[in-house]
Amino acid sequence: MTIQWFPGHMAKARRQVTEKLKFIDIVFELVDARIPAASRNPMIDEIITNKPRLVLLNKADMADPRMTKEWISFYKKQGIHALAIDSQTGSGLKQIITSSKEILKEKFDKMAAKGIKPRAIRALIVGIPNVGKSTLINRLAKKNIAKTGDRPGVTKAQQWIKVGKELELLDTPGILWPKFEDQQVGQKLAVTGAIKDTIINLQDIAVYALTFLKEKYPNRLKERYNLDEYPEDIVSLFDEIGKRRGCMVSGGYIDYDKTAELILRELRSEKLGPISFEEPKEEVED
Ligand code: G4P
Repeated sequence: MTIQWFPGHMAKARRQVTEKLKFIDIVFELVDARIPAASRNPMIDEIITNKPRLVLLNKADMADPRMTKEWISFYKKQGIHALAIDSQTGSGLKQIITSSKEILKEKFDKMAAKGIKPRAIRALIVGIPNVGKSTLINRLAKKNIAKTGDRPGVTKAQQWIKVGKELELLDTPGILWPKFEDQQVGQKLAVTGAIKDTIINLQDIAVYALTFLKEKYPNRLKERYNLDEYPEDIVSLFDEIGKRRGCMVSGGYIDYDKTAELILRELRSEKLGPISFEEPKEEVED
């Protein structure tokens, strides 16, 4: 699905998330571990006021583990709890409950001191489209979707998913918009597949990817495409890859669309290994 965010859409999405906040104790903010800043909603801090947050770096299996560690310590320095997870295999998910308990300890201790019966932690997952919200919910759910309409303060429309005894998730995640205006952000979202290919120029994105990889992961490109040396410019590199992979049109010319598609497909299916497109440093400089 291609989502275009108009001011009306944004206001509605924001309203929907805001309405759900009153039912929950904590927000799980899902971001893409390969682009933790670009895959964040730009207004998240204004939207999620007065609820604690746990940042989940999803798709960590596709990100550079060294960089993911840097991101986690970057968040930690700012007092933000963050975890690396892989919603597809379930790796790292157990830690979500442990961390949530830590974050909410004071609140639950206070409730206990007031004599309130212990209950499960209630959480809402939020994130931009394609970041893995449904995958995470399904992985955690294991078919434990419970209809609860009789709980005080909870409307009939809310459905909760039980995750063991200690956690309950609202079954519909909060969908927020990415920051489209910034060209670099758009390129990062496109290269990771968060923006559908029908609305982007594939060749531009492939050139962006090659430029980035040549600088940050030079050996991966060389190995994948059997290059001895790098051609002097990116267009020649594009040509070289097209030639080597037989992406040609009649007359011996390179088929640029086909080459771009191949590069992006291979990148997104991890043929070039786990790659991160953002360093926490850039964020600080911004
Ligand atoms: P959303 O609800 O936030 O929109 O995202 P969704 O769960 O639909 O996930 C989007 C794509 O990301 C899915 O791929 C899903 O399998 C993949 N995904 C989610 N979490 C992870 C993860 O931790 N690791 C990896 N490697 N992939 C993950 P898809 O089914 O192929 O969908 P599409 O790419 O064809 O849209």
